[in-house]
Amino acid sequence: MPPEGVVRTGISLPKKLLDRLDELRQSLGIESRSKAIQEAINTFISEKIWLLGKEEAVVAGSVTIFYTHGKGDVERKLVELQHFFLDLIRSTTHVHVTEEKCMEVILVVGSVKKLRDLVSYIETLKAVEEVRTSLHIV
Ligand code: NI
Repeated sequence: MPPEGVVRTGISLPKKLLDRLDELRQSLGIESRSKAIQEAINTFISEKIWLLGKEEAVVAGSVTIFYTHGKGDVERKLVELQHFFLDLIRSTTHVHVTEEKCMEVILVVGSVKKLRDLVSYIETLKAVEEVRTSLHIV
């Protein structure tokens, strides 16, 4: 029997994903898979919870974009996007990480609806490898 308040569940995972989790878990000294999976779920929830906010709810935070420099006219598209969402964007910082890779951090304050639109658009860009949000409902 699991301890009170704990539910046992079975999940299916691709072997490669489980191997990566185990490698990371061991290097971090996390003793059990359950603990590592709990931590992963907590991180997922804290990153995505803002998406459950009402469309008009205000969120504040950052959108971090990792992308390939010069691919698919990405720099121009990101600038156009930021001019379009002018009322949402407070600040942008660009870092040339390597000759090929760039990172852009956009600080935002605005509605859940507009943030969803902004993030969805960024995710459609072919040059974009990863988009990470750290957004909090105000
Ligand atoms: Ni750059």
